[in-house]
Amino acid sequence: MGYDWRMARSAYFATTSKGLEGVLAGEIEALGGRDTAVAAGGVSFLADPAFFYRANLWLRTANRVLLRLSEFVAPTPEALYEGVKAVPWPDLFDVRKKIAVEAAVRDSSISNSRFAAQKAKDAIVDRFRDKLGVRPDVDLVAPDVRIHLRILRDACTVSLDTSGESLNRRGYRADPGEASLRETLAAGIVLLSGWDGRVPLADPACGAGTLLIEAALIATNTAPGLLRTSFGFQNLAGHRQKLWAQTVEEARDAVRKSGVVRIEGSDASAEAVRGAQRNARKAGVSDFVSFRACDIRDFSPGPPPGILLCNPPYGVRMTGEREEIASFYTGLGEALKKRSRGWSAYILSGNPDATRHIGLKASRRFPLMNGPIDCRLLRYELY
Ligand SMILES: C[S@@+](CC[C@H](N)C(=O)[O-])C[C@H]1O[C@@H](n2cnc3c(N)ncnc32)[C@H](O)[C@@H]1O
Repeated sequence: MGYDWRMARSAYFATTSKGLEGVLAGEIEALGGRDTAVAAGGVSFLADPAFFYRANLWLRTANRVLLRLSEFVAPTPEALYEGVKAVPWPDLFDVRKKIAVEAAVRDSSISNSRFAAQKAKDAIVDRFRDKLGVRPDVDLVAPDVRIHLRILRDACTVSLDTSGESLNRRGYRADPGEASLRETLAAGIVLLSGWDGRVPLADPACGAGTLLIEAALIATNTAPGLLRTSFGFQNLAGHRQKLWAQTVEEARDAVRKSGVVRIEGSDASAEAVRGAQRNARKAGVSDFVSFRACDIRDFSPGPPPGILLCNPPYGVRMTGEREEIASFYTGLGEALKKRSRGWSAYILSGNPDATRHIGLKASRRFPLMNGPIDCRLLRYELY
């Protein structure tokens, strides 16, 4: 039977980086999702049962799109086992698919997430064994089907991951540079900046080019999932290949190939510039983004107006002497104050001490998590 496509609507949860939940909710609503509710690290919403095809293809800031299967109270291991076993798993995917269960638990009687994942896995394989006499294998590294379990104050939610590998892996960045941003976070920064594609965009420490490539994908109306070849939903029973092919075809037709403004990246490292150029070619946006080698001390973005985005080294993930970091930020401050009048700048800072060297007062601060690093996206108006 598989997944029930006749349902009036399905309940979803899309995950994202902390700080981007509002942006993601806006994306989901624009795509047709309803009743969005923001939670830490994600957005729950309702949509039609086939919505995950469009969601996985089009959402720029989502890391995963989870489809809710069941909710129940699980104060004991037995209740957890029975609740998970009540889901008709053999209807949802073939027994030959390899599975992985991920669990997150908080403020609950069951306090060990590994134990919870193990118990849920037992319930799933037992349900298969009872029906078919055989069970699916577990593969924690490259599973075909990922199952998510969340237990919050003893309330358990069981979901199927329709994305598979995290959606930030768009497929254009074969060789991510040191300290590269997640593609989903980069897209979120572009969207937070409010860049509308009408004014030039620049990044003076572009690294692998992620911010500008994501901006070019937005400006050309390119669905971010178009380069990916594999998604979790392809392993589900009843996968609607025709509908998926049609969704992809429509997205290909929607790509705009003209009318894109100047998008320019630079970096002190010539190797980073070559990598960014390769990535832009792979992403299909090399006609719209140019990259060059240039030190921040020589950087000038050109005539205003425009938006400058930058994810400078923090001195946390990249090795660098303290003085070098301070000198970079001083150089950035000079470039902003002296050579970027009439521009707006958005700097993602994970190092408040270093940020002080910019010597300007931010007009807005958006809290954002960059992996484990607590960051602020700082907005500067350069009059
Ligand atoms: C955190 S990385 C940027 C990563 C980029 N946002 C991405 O997602 O790929 C910081 C970049 O600053 C560059 N950088 C360091 N010192 C610089 C300088 N003095 N002038 C220009 N770029 C510099 C590094 O080469 C590195 O690529």
